[in-house]
This record gives sequence, structure tokens and C-alpha cells, in this order.
Amino acid sequence: METNKPQKKNKWFLPLVFSLLLSTLLMFISIFISSSSNSQLYHTHVKSELLPRFVESKLKVSATSSDPVPRIAYLISGSMGDGESLKRTLKALYHPRNQYAVHLDLEASAEERLDLANFVRNEPLFVKLGNVRMVVRANLVTYRGPTMVTNTLHAAAILLKEGGEWDWFINLSASDYPLVTQDDLLHTLSAIPRNLNFIEHTSDIGWKEYQRAKPVIIDPGLYSLRKSDVFWASEKRSVPTAYRLYTGSAWMMLSRPFVDYFLWGWDNLPRIVLMYYANFLSSPEGYFHTVICNAEEFRNTTVNHDLHFISWDNPPKQHPHFLTVDDYQKMVDSNAPFARKFGRNEPVLDKIDSELLGCNADGFVPGRWFNNKTNSNLFPYDAMKNSTKLKPGPGAERLKRLINGLLSAKDFHANHCS
Ligand SMILES: *[C@@H]1O[C@H](CO)[C@@H](O)[C@H](O)[C@H]1NC(C)=O
Ligand SMILES: *[C@@H]1O[C@H](CO)[C@@H](O)[C@H](O)[C@H]1NC(C)=O
Ligand SMILES: *[C@@H]1O[C@H](CO)[C@@H](O)[C@H](O)[C@H]1NC(C)=O
Ligand SMILES: *[C@@H]1O[C@H](CO)[C@@H](O)[C@H](O)[C@H]1NC(C)=O
Repeated sequence: METNKPQKKNKWFLPLVFSLLLSTLLMFISIFISSSSNSQLYHTHVKSELLPRFVESKLKVSATSSDPVPRIAYLISGSMGDGESLKRTLKALYHPRNQYAVHLDLEASAEERLDLANFVRNEPLFVKLGNVRMVVRANLVTYRGPTMVTNTLHAAAILLKEGGEWDWFINLSASDYPLVTQDDLLHTLSAIPRNLNFIEHTSDIGWKEYQRAKPVIIDPGLYSLRKSDVFWASEKRSVPTAYRLYTGSAWMMLSRPFVDYFLWGWDNLPRIVLMYYANFLSSPEGYFHTVICNAEEFRNTTVNHDLHFISWDNPPKQHPHFLTVDDYQKMVDSNAPFARKFGRNEPVLDKIDSELLGCNADGFVPGRWFNNKTNSNLFPYDAMKNSTKLKPGPGAERLKRLINGLLSAKDFHANHCS
């Protein structure tokens, strides 16, 4: 037995050494062969090490919905004395698929706000469909001050939290009015990408550099109980170098992914720019423009139009001029879906109601969901909310001309945020 042992050891020792040698050799060969193909990988690795390392170097942009027909979330706001025009605008814009937030600022009396709250609470259609809400905790909004932006953000946040799956956010005031029906609008928008943001903008801030960007203003609406105008600090500041300023129209239609981005602020840009604009005169004409154009992930989604017909005097004054029957044809020819600004009970609104919207006596605009003749609903309420059936009219053709013109312009892709 004992004499056999070394013999046995010898028997397996040689093959073990041999196989070890062989496997080492194979390993060397495989490393040698793969090193040539790895060299490329190695290089890109080294290159990326040279770039600054952010925790999130790329933003995650939220997805758009795949519903065949989009939904719109509207904010309609007003101030003292705007209650009745606000109701009228709301009815003219109403559609069961959409979501609405209405706001009367703190300058309006408690009675006026209560009256609007009761209207929203008692209108049978709103009660059944539950898609209209009032911003009950009203804001103090200073004209030209940053509280106008905070009010818009407030309503967008409410609509994001409670409004379900909408696709675009539109900010209007009680002195705005639609020129197309919601069936026209939803029909036309169902054909375009849902990530587009209609925001009129330019980087050419011109005279605004001295009049707007350099002065520092303070809005008492940020800390005061009573409304008073903005005031100026004696110091001036320089133009930002960390991001570029943009300016444009205060009226816009913003996509759900962009609203998600600026409300959540998972990239700090929307928050930093918001704080910068706290001391900027007429911040609604710059805040969203500056954020969207400095966010690489969103700048290519901009369409340079505000979807409004607005008539400025020449030379422009602080306010656009009030539209009247004389402007009717220009409004229609602009192909825009909205116009402003209208005086209360302005006769041209009746002309728009009868000729463009086909309003019913109660002020609602008929569509596929609503029977024009018998003034009754065509669907049960539950089905109305999700119905994708629309009845587009001539307004859809006009709007299609406007949008197709914008999207097919030959410099469309080259001119984002220029
Ligand atoms: C939103 O609506 C109000 C009107 O109530 C307007 O004054 C403001 O400039 C609008 N735009 C933005 C971006 O807040
Ligand atoms: C935006 O468009 C420009 C020009 O077409 C392109 O170079 C750039 O990569 C695009 N950016 C994104 C984030 O898609
Ligand atoms: C509703 O009826 C009115 C008159 O009865 C008509 O002028 C209008 O075009 C109709 N609207 C729609 C959307 O069918
Ligand atoms: C309508 O669609 C939503 C989702 O978009 C769904 O949660 C809801 O149940 C639908 N309602 C009806 C009545 O089909």
C-alpha cells in the first residue's frame, strides 16, 4: 500500500501541470486577441473620464401619452370684475375631455369669488364630469410682477396633481376668447407630436436688456397682504452669464413633459431661473422662454408662435389694443385659435359666438359630444370623458393651415431658440 502512493501521485501530477500550462497559454492568447478589439472601448472610456461628471448628465424626459386624441389643461384667470367674462370664456372653451382651473385673484371681492365658486359647483355639466375646479386659495397677483408666474405655476401644479392624463397646458385670461371650437382644436392637435411647445421667443432681447434685465424690481405681492405696484431697487445688475436670456409672448401652449420638468425641477435650472426672475419686470414674458431654451432636452421642441391673435398699436404701447368688430376679419385670417384682448361684453364676441363657434343659447359650444339641435348630450357622461369622436368644422382647416405652415417652414429645425 505505502509503496504504491508515490506512484499514484506521479500519475496525476504530470497531467495537472500540463493542463495548467495549457490553460495559461490559452488565457494569454485570448487576452492578446481581444486586446486589439478592446482598445477602442478603452479609448472611449478614457475620453468620458475627461468630461465633467454630473450625477445626472442626461435628463430623463417624461413620456407623452398615446391616446389618439389629446387632452388640454386650461388655466383661465382674472381679477376684480372679471367674473362674468371668465364664465363666458370657460363655457366657450369647454369640452368633456379637457381639464380646467379657474382663478380670480385676491383683488376680486370675496362675493365675486364666491359667485364663481358657486357657478363651478352648480353647473350640472361640470358636476357630472368633474373637470372644472376653482383655485380656492386665491393668489395676490401683481401686474408685471413675478406673482403672475407663481400663479401660473400654482395652477399647473394643481392640474398636474388632479387633472389626470392631459397633454398640453394653456394659460389664458378672462379677456381671451377662442376662435375655433374645442373639437377643431383637439382634432388638429391629434395629428402633431405631443412634445411640441408653442412658445413665441427670441434671444434678441434688444431694449429689454436695459429696461428689463438690468433693473432690479421687488414685487410686494410676494410678502404683503395688500396689493401694491412693484418698486425698483437703486442698484442695477449685470446680464446673466450662466444662461442666456430669452424673451417673447406671455401666452403659450406647453407640453406635459415640459410642465413636468419645470414643476418638479429635478434639474435645478427651472428653480434657479425662477429665483432670478423674482426681480425681473414682466417675468411671464421671459421665464418659460429662458428655461426651455437653456434646457438642451427641450429647446428642439419649441415652435415659435403663441397661438394668439393680438393686435399691438404702432408703436406698441404697454397693452395691446382692445379688439372690436373692425378686427374680426383679421382675427379669422390669422388662423389663430385664440384672440385677445376683449372688453367685457364686447359685441364682436357675439359675432364670434354665432359665426365661428355656433354657440348655444347657454354659451356652450356644440361638438360631437353635444347635440346642437335638441341641446342635449349625445353620450352618457362617463363615455363623454373618454370619447375620441370629434366633429371638426372650418376652424380645424384654418388651424391646420397655421400649424402646418409653422412645422413645415424650411428653417423650422434650424431656428429653435435663435
Ligand atoms: C398667464 O395668464 C395671465 C393672465 O391672467 C397673464 O397675465 C400671464 O402673463 C400669463 N402667462 C404666464 C406665462 O404666466
Ligand atoms: C437639436 O437639434 C440640433 C440641430 O438639428 C441638433 O444638433 C441637436 O443634437 C438636437 N438636440 C437634441 C437634444 O435632440
Ligand atoms: C349649431 O346650430 C347653429 C344654428 O342652429 C348653427 O349655425 C351652427 O353651425 C351649429 N353648430 C354646430 C357645431 O353644428
Ligand atoms: C377613461 O380613461 C381613463 C384612463 O385614460 C380610465 O381610467 C377610465 O376608466 C376611463 N373611463 C371610462 C368610462 O372608460
